[in-house]
Amino acid sequence: MDRVRAAVLGGTGLVGQRFIQLLDGHPFIEVTHITGRSSVGRLYGEAVDWRVEVSIPEWAREIKVSPSDPELLAREGVEVAFSALPASIAADIEVGLAKRGIDVASNARPMRMDPDVPLLNGEVNHSHVKLVKLQRETRGWKGVILKNPNCSTAILTLYLKPLLDEYGLERVMVTTLQAISGAGLRGLPAMYMVDNLVPYISGEEWKIENESRKILGSLAGDEVEHLDLEITSTATRVPVIDGHTEVVYAKLSRRPEDIGEVARVLGGFRSAPQEWSLPTAPEKPLVVRDGEDRPQPRLDRLEGDGMSVVVGRLSLIDSRDGPWLRSVILGHNTIRGAAGAAILAYEVYRAYQDKGLL
Ligand SMILES: NC(=O)c1ccc[n+]([C@@H]2O[C@H](COP(=O)([O-])OP(=O)(O)OC[C@H]3O[C@@H](n4cnc5c(N)ncnc54)[C@H](OP(=O)(O)O)[C@@H]3O)[C@@H](O)[C@H]2O)c1
Repeated sequence: MDRVRAAVLGGTGLVGQRFIQLLDGHPFIEVTHITGRSSVGRLYGEAVDWRVEVSIPEWAREIKVSPSDPELLAREGVEVAFSALPASIAADIEVGLAKRGIDVASNARPMRMDPDVPLLNGEVNHSHVKLVKLQRETRGWKGVILKNPNCSTAILTLYLKPLLDEYGLERVMVTTLQAISGAGLRGLPAMYMVDNLVPYISGEEWKIENESRKILGSLAGDEVEHLDLEITSTATRVPVIDGHTEVVYAKLSRRPEDIGEVARVLGGFRSAPQEWSLPTAPEKPLVVRDGEDRPQPRLDRLEGDGMSVVVGRLSLIDSRDGPWLRSVILGHNTIRGAAGAAILAYEVYRAYQDKGLL
């Protein structure tokens, strides 16, 4: 397979850095461009305030940071752009790229809920990538725009999918304990976060509730029918660097035999990205931990190279209104919740193309 020339947009930020790390040595994607704002014109190795636990790849150090200019990127032969741009400026730039024939896999919020834009969480709803046919027809772009969900939503929906398929879901209540890195490199001052917890993240609860219904919805013709599921969420920020924890109560339509059965359903979950051995797909999307004090961010966030969601504290509650499943889940917010999910979304798109499914 020919190597695809890629740009990482917003490459100096926290998600941008993860893209650079995860694309190092990728079998068919080669990063040729990195874009930014304040760092434009400088070598990436000098401009970036690198916050990833492994060294900056040597090839990335030598790339000169360019502006996120669609015309320039198209002229220089970029074929796919991985976007970690701030939401406020992402839409114009991403549409400009798609119009010029550059495919975009984006973390930024705008357009996630548009009916012709696939909101992809690889293992959960890979078939939604077929929305690009409608997107091409309605927008007339030569490239496509793929979105991945908000970080907490990516982690939550990966956990909910096998439960939905096996037992049915009637109601979900979730409280998130989200890492500081979710707010970006210049996110939250120590004065807010040390010795503290902030019980509010602007816009987050709306995203968790609405994006989840789209992702867990089913494709009917050219449309995604959002899942009719009541989801209630409370989003909090905690003094953890990386890794979002979520306490989830899920009311099931059918009672499992016992908790061992639930653990087997979750731990055995596989999907097309695993069957097709996509490069960024973890071997096990969900890892069930037995230890009574797990999952913990420091110990569990790099499971499956940061692409697996770790599940613990599983218990069944036989409530008056039916069976509820209680669990604590954990995922890496800048990998499973951001850069890794976007790369996997693009790999799904390419796999669908290669298999003649689009
Ligand atoms: N952090 C997470 O866990 C997470 C998870 C899911 C989704 N997201 C989303 O991913 C995106 C990036 O988040 P982040 O946490 O990586 O943010 P960040 O650390 O604040 O980084 C922002 C990046 O955008 C660049 N930038 C800022 N203004 C720009 C402009 N006008 N034109 C071009 N580039 C510009 C910056 O470049 P310079 O350094 O050169 O100024 C920097 O590279 C956001 O949309 C965010 O909502 C983040």
